[in-house]
Amino acid sequence: WARHAPYVLAINRLKAERGAVVLAHNYMTPDIYHGIADVVGDSLQLAIAATRVKADVIVQGGVHFMAETSKILNPSKTVLIPDVEAGCSLAEAITPAGVAEMRARYPGAPVVSYVNTTAAVKAVSDVCCTSANAAQIVRAMPGDTIIMTPDKYLAQNVARQVPEKRIVWWDGACIVHERFTAGDLREFRAFQPDTTIIAHPECPPDVIAEADYAGSTAGIIDFVAREKPQKALLVTECSMASNIADAHPGVEFVGPCNMCPYMKMITLEKVLWSLHSMTTPVEVDPAIITPARKAIERMIEIST
Ligand code: 13P
Ligand code: SF4
Repeated sequence: WARHAPYVLAINRLKAERGAVVLAHNYMTPDIYHGIADVVGDSLQLAIAATRVKADVIVQGGVHFMAETSKILNPSKTVLIPDVEAGCSLAEAITPAGVAEMRARYPGAPVVSYVNTTAAVKAVSDVCCTSANAAQIVRAMPGDTIIMTPDKYLAQNVARQVPEKRIVWWDGACIVHERFTAGDLREFRAFQPDTTIIAHPECPPDVIAEADYAGSTAGIIDFVAREKPQKALLVTECSMASNIADAHPGVEFVGPCNMCPYMKMITLEKVLWSLHSMTTPVEVDPAIITPARKAIERMIEIST
């Protein structure tokens, strides 16, 4: 903390000067999560928080699609992303042309797009979803066939929860969660049988089948707080365990975990520069904002 303290102090002072708030995802490093965030949460909580922001400036502690979501919900505010290169393998996996291809293949089927997509993809989707509400959103859609983009594993996991619908999916995956294997988890359990295994739904279905619980990053936090396992393996991004370890001294968090290279591009140094220089403001084409906002608001309406 001694190394981080000057940045934390400077950022918090600049935040007050600029009238800014920091919305930070649960995968941010602990210095950001505990030191400078005004709101922390999973993708759904951050989207809902963005609808309630009073400040004129939002600094997104997260990746580019999250900053776009904040901008779509607050077109008149300045939304800053401290590193424009902070992307996401899922958001890169599909374009509006891909959505059109799926619509042509499955005429009339509603398109449920994960929030991990660009604003342009949201704009051509019927509704968005996050890992916290995907099953609920799919159930709420009319018709037997539902198109889910772009995460094939989230779609396959939802298909198990909602067997009454035929779910078809795009071939995208999260580079952080696709690397976990069921074999690794089985080996881990044989070696340390007293471990509670908690996984994110972006993992492949056979990985989820090995887990004691699967849920969004906020779901994971709630599960740990509720169940207070003695030993927990969080099958997700590494900062999750670091961020909640202090609040749960009775829980031993064990590895392995994987790092998201995009989330890790957001650092205290870059947040300080971002607030100092007011860079980089996220812009979304006004023609895209209205339909993209509709898809996000429909999701929030169904899930709250
Ligand atoms: P949630 O926080 O919504 O579970 O999403 C995880 C994720 O990978 C965001 O990029
Ligand atoms: Fe994208 Fe996966 Fe990183 Fe989340 S963890 S931002 S889904 S690459």
